[in-house]
Amino acid sequence: MYILGIDTSCDDTSIAILEIKNLKLEILSNVVSSQVKLHAKYGGVYPFLAKREHQKNLPVVLKKTTKNIDISKIDLIGVTIGPGLEPCLWQGINFAKDLAEKLNKPIVPVNHIEAHILANFLDYQTRQRNLFPAICLVVSGGHTQLILMRDIGKYRLIGETRDDAAGECFDKVARILGLGYPGGPAIAVTVANLKPKTYNLKPKLPRPMIYQKNYDFSFSGLKTAVLYDFRARPPKIRKSKEYIQEMCFEIQQAIIDVLIHKTLRATKDFKAKSIILGGGVAANEELRKQFEKKIKEDYNLPTTPYIKYLIPDTKYCTDNAAMVAATAYFHQREATKDWKKIEANANLRI
Ligand code: KG4
Ligand code: ZN
Repeated sequence: MYILGIDTSCDDTSIAILEIKNLKLEILSNVVSSQVKLHAKYGGVYPFLAKREHQKNLPVVLKKTTKNIDISKIDLIGVTIGPGLEPCLWQGINFAKDLAEKLNKPIVPVNHIEAHILANFLDYQTRQRNLFPAICLVVSGGHTQLILMRDIGKYRLIGETRDDAAGECFDKVARILGLGYPGGPAIAVTVANLKPKTYNLKPKLPRPMIYQKNYDFSFSGLKTAVLYDFRARPPKIRKSKEYIQEMCFEIQQAIIDVLIHKTLRATKDFKAKSIILGGGVAANEELRKQFEKKIKEDYNLPTTPYIKYLIPDTKYCTDNAAMVAATAYFHQREATKDWKKIEANANLRI
């Protein structure tokens, strides 16, 4: 069986093909065409500009994806219908409908948040493990959500950000500090170059909502705190490499502290057997390392079984269509040829 996945939810145009043999998923191709350079000069994504780019990119990306694959072999098409930027979502949906009609194959509408979670289930061995209930943390540019997962397809949203997403906070702070877009990787690289010796200006940021007994987040205050600190510094200091590096260190650590603390509390409260990460921010090396360390510290006691920690390869954390094709595989029973039913839903919930 062959599944083609399409994702145009934000600023990346992506198409992938999976082959399924004996229940094993193999990624035959996964092409992601990034619009980063286009949006970098604005410091964020402009939906109508992104939509135009998707329109231009989709046929090119399809050609690349199917370079060594006979497209008539495709059995099923999976396409992201939400959440995301509505004009962008429609580009992918209409492209999927045209292709599905041409090939006379059905479409599975895919939820982008679920796809970020199921990026962890591309591997057959993983699917054989005793993972549920699991606590999933989806952290991207548009979302920060904690989800209780009882099985593939069975989710309950237990908490989310009340304002900005973690990735959005990285992007806005990077803009204040003049580091460009996307902010997450730019901040991570700046921190990696920080020499411990230079850490002496010590900007201090809050850890919003960390001790509140709920599973919600709030990151917009963090960005404001950076802005106030930045403005309060003399121009010479705030433009200095040391200040920028130290502020990057502090913002990254503040976000990591909150994400880890709240996820681990949910894990304990719901007696979860695993922690599953997904989304662009999960590509952050420090977050990945510190999560693992903290889980080991908290759970590696003789009396408690070691909890499982799942995280996709970094290239499957950021937006990609392989995760969309995988989600379509798990939901193949929902495949339809009733094209009219398939519509974009910018605010689709899990
Ligand atoms: O999942 P994604 O590709 O798109 C959305 O669905 O939003 O996530 C993009 C977000 C951006 O905000 C970007 O700054 C952040 O993920 N991001 C990172 C890293 N790589 C991407 N944040 C922190 N560290 C990274 N290495
Ligand atoms: Zn995403």
